[in-house]
Amino acid sequence: MLIRPPNDILSSEITPHEVYRERRRFMQGMGVLAAGAALGVAADVEAGVRLAGVRGSAYTLNEAKTPYKSVTTYNNFYEFGTGKSDPAENAGGLNTRPWTVAVEGEVNKPGVYDMDMLLKLAPLEERVYRMRCVEGWSMVIPWVGFPLHELIRRANPTGNARYVEFVTLHDPGQMPGQRSRVLDWPYVEGLRMDEAMNPLTLLAVGLYGEVLPNQNGAPIRLVVPWKYGFKSAKSIVRIRFVEKQPLTAWMKATPSEYGFYSNVNPQVDHPRWSQARERRIGEFFKRDTLMFNGYGAQVAQMYRGMDLKRYF
Ligand code: MTE
Repeated sequence: MLIRPPNDILSSEITPHEVYRERRRFMQGMGVLAAGAALGVAADVEAGVRLAGVRGSAYTLNEAKTPYKSVTTYNNFYEFGTGKSDPAENAGGLNTRPWTVAVEGEVNKPGVYDMDMLLKLAPLEERVYRMRCVEGWSMVIPWVGFPLHELIRRANPTGNARYVEFVTLHDPGQMPGQRSRVLDWPYVEGLRMDEAMNPLTLLAVGLYGEVLPNQNGAPIRLVVPWKYGFKSAKSIVRIRFVEKQPLTAWMKATPSEYGFYSNVNPQVDHPRWSQARERRIGEFFKRDTLMFNGYGAQVAQMYRGMDLKRYF
């Protein structure tokens, strides 16, 4: 995000999901992927394994889904490098088991949840969401996860909880990008309490019906579809309920460019990127960006009366 992205990937590079899966099945047959087991990676948590019991939801879109290959090879995850292909190339070594998420701060029921508890916390749903990156590209991704409010309800916040802070793993041994100072690690993001409670806000554990690939934020990441992609923190280890607005990693890095709210807004440009239009990955022509990324009916009321140029 501090760095200008290269041109979008060519549509000729995009492999339909089924072709990709076939190739994977073939490699599995050849025993190539069995190497993961030898390294101690449990088979049922490996990226690409189908998640059981995922149900459909009302959150679907009448828009073409971005192919699996693009969703998993064109990423921003600075812990693994700043290039779009770096996360897919470098995140393979991230060990996502055991993994715990600490829920703490202004809550009556703090706790440490391990991934197996989180996977059973609420029914897993598929939700197809439009995702818009501040750099001007967008995707349509079928996520698998559960609404964040399910976790919040169990944590039972105190009256002082006005914001929620999300913290990514800090482990330069596993995340080589953290050895560079491109951001002040760990990656921190935040939401206002009502945003966190909004039914659209998802904790994702998978995509395309399968366990989340590491480069997409395994084993658990936030998905906030009406905000720019950087609000959707990956590989979360801590969720903290606080009274004061969290200082996010991007606000710390470049306060003039990144505000706390970061709602998709075609009328408020980023200093380096117009936000009026966007390129859907895999498409040639740009399309108009929608206010709140098209989710205004569900979220606009949270910002009524706010000057969205000031609170960008
Ligand atoms: N989370 C962490 N921890 N580190 C990051 O660099 N990048 C953000 C967001 N979450 C980022 C992160 C940005 S800029 C975007 S656009 C989305 O992740 C990209 O998510 P995706 O790769 O699954 O599309």
